[in-house]
Amino acid sequence: IKGVTEMATEYEIKKQICEIGKRIYNRGMVASNDGNISVKLNDNEFLCTPTGVSKGFMTPEYICKVDAKGNVLQAYEGFKPSSEIKMHMRVYKERPDVNSVVHAHPVYATSFAIAGIPLTEPIMPEAVIALGCVPIAEYGTPSTEEIPDAVSKYLPYYDAVLLENHGALAFSDSLLNAYHKMESVEFYAQLLYQAKMLGGPKPLSEEQVQRLYEIRRKFGMKGKHPADLCPNAKAGKPSCHSCGGNCSCGTVSSTAANDAALIAEITKKVLASLS
Ligand code: 13P
Repeated sequence: IKGVTEMATEYEIKKQICEIGKRIYNRGMVASNDGNISVKLNDNEFLCTPTGVSKGFMTPEYICKVDAKGNVLQAYEGFKPSSEIKMHMRVYKERPDVNSVVHAHPVYATSFAIAGIPLTEPIMPEAVIALGCVPIAEYGTPSTEEIPDAVSKYLPYYDAVLLENHGALAFSDSLLNAYHKMESVEFYAQLLYQAKMLGGPKPLSEEQVQRLYEIRRKFGMKGKHPADLCPNAKAGKPSCHSCGGNCSCGTVSSTAANDAALIAEITKKVLASLS
């Protein structure tokens, strides 16, 4: 019975991946065969979209299963895992709290990634609470280790990054939340772009930002966020919202981030052993 239930669950997750694929395609977040989606089943089994298909027209049998190194565990004939699987696997490896990764090329977010402008202006409450700011990972050639390597240093501090001259990457504790993160990134980028067209945004004040951070902490929202980790803020200096996109979060508090990840992993194992 256990095996049957697991298979049913897996099939359900494959259907959900197809549904999210439709949404990113129908919302214009990907063109043609672009983008990819993955979901973690357990430490050594991951479902992912296949390479070279439109994510708007997938059915469950398109979805591939890979191990933690990205090797194929199961794929129907004619389907191979996404060419970007290494990027997804790096996120799972370095973020034990993440259960799903979504990569897309939404027009506004990708335009910022192409112009080399990170999303760092606190312009509206939801973006400040959900994302804080969204940095740009240095350009890498798709399908190589260059993108995972570039993304790696941002993983302890953010739940979404722009990929320079390429697109956006979002990740969270569930498929729906990872997709929502991508929507939030794109909405934030679109608002920022349009506000710039209207003469430039009138950003929230540092005090208003801190009050939003406080709300985020009260909600106990999952994921990483500059509100929790920005070493500038901890040192009593302006947080990364005010450092013009040059926040050095990635270098200063890596010990704290590693500790947090370790504690998360230990907590997960303890909870698993109790259930
Ligand atoms: P795949 O079809 O191999 O997943 O690649 C799509 C893409 O967007 C690469 O960046």
